[in-house]
Amino acid sequence: MEIFEEIEPLRAFLKGKRIASKSIGLVPTMGALHHGHLSLIRASKAENELTVSTIYVNPTQFNNSEDLDKYPRTLEMDTQLLSQEGCDVLFVPTNSEMYSGAQNLAFDFGNLDKVLEGKFRPGHFSGVALVVSKLFNIIQPDRAYFGQKDYQQFQIIHRLKEELKFSLELQSVPIVREDSGLALSSRNQRLDAEGKRKALLLYESLKYASAELLKGIRFDIIRIEVEKRFSQLKGVKLEYFELAHRATLQPLDEADKIGEAIILIAAFVDEVRLIDNMLIDIN
Ligand code: PAF
Repeated sequence: MEIFEEIEPLRAFLKGKRIASKSIGLVPTMGALHHGHLSLIRASKAENELTVSTIYVNPTQFNNSEDLDKYPRTLEMDTQLLSQEGCDVLFVPTNSEMYSGAQNLAFDFGNLDKVLEGKFRPGHFSGVALVVSKLFNIIQPDRAYFGQKDYQQFQIIHRLKEELKFSLELQSVPIVREDSGLALSSRNQRLDAEGKRKALLLYESLKYASAELLKGIRFDIIRIEVEKRFSQLKGVKLEYFELAHRATLQPLDEADKIGEAIILIAAFVDEVRLIDNMLIDIN
């Protein structure tokens, strides 16, 4: 695996590959890799001749400096995992390589970044859009791969691609779960065994809601029960639990108007913020 820390040598290397007509798949990450990330690498390898992964803990997408400081950093292990998985190129830039130090550009996605994650993490998606735009410009991939766990992020990047006319395909790869159902996340590394057990309440709430919606129960009734379950378990705090339209992410309430929807949840477990979601079709 070729490793680059600077933009220009990476650009020169990729230019050579493009001249040789090699298709390029991009898997952007913030490191602390797990099997979810590796499934993105596998998806890219299946569709492209060259897979480029990036590891960069992007400061502009953290609206909380403590969260940024505590974000797990496991570069040596990550490099090993990527290399074993057959990733061809790894880009690990520094902050000064990615940001000039001048005021950062900002994005506004209208209603799409004012709900769910955007409501609780102001500025988060502007930071994501900024770094993803930079990575798309530097690497110029044919395809880019993102996990479905960050569902709203995928919709934002989709809008970004449409608005800025990036010429690439976006691929959303299904959530990878532990046998228990817990969605894999880099943040799980900050949970002990008891924390992981408590974190199952997120997935259980999604499964419960999905089953109840299919029976025709209204989402506001379901939410009251889920809030009760969270209030009864020590060390957990529900941030949001929403039923939303899959494309616009605007909240839905009436089961009979739903169609293709998604249930999304965010909660703190032992001070660690986790998210999860589940697609649902109700006709
Ligand atoms: O999903 C992530 O890990 C990050 O938000 C991304 C897309 C790598 C941008 O920093």
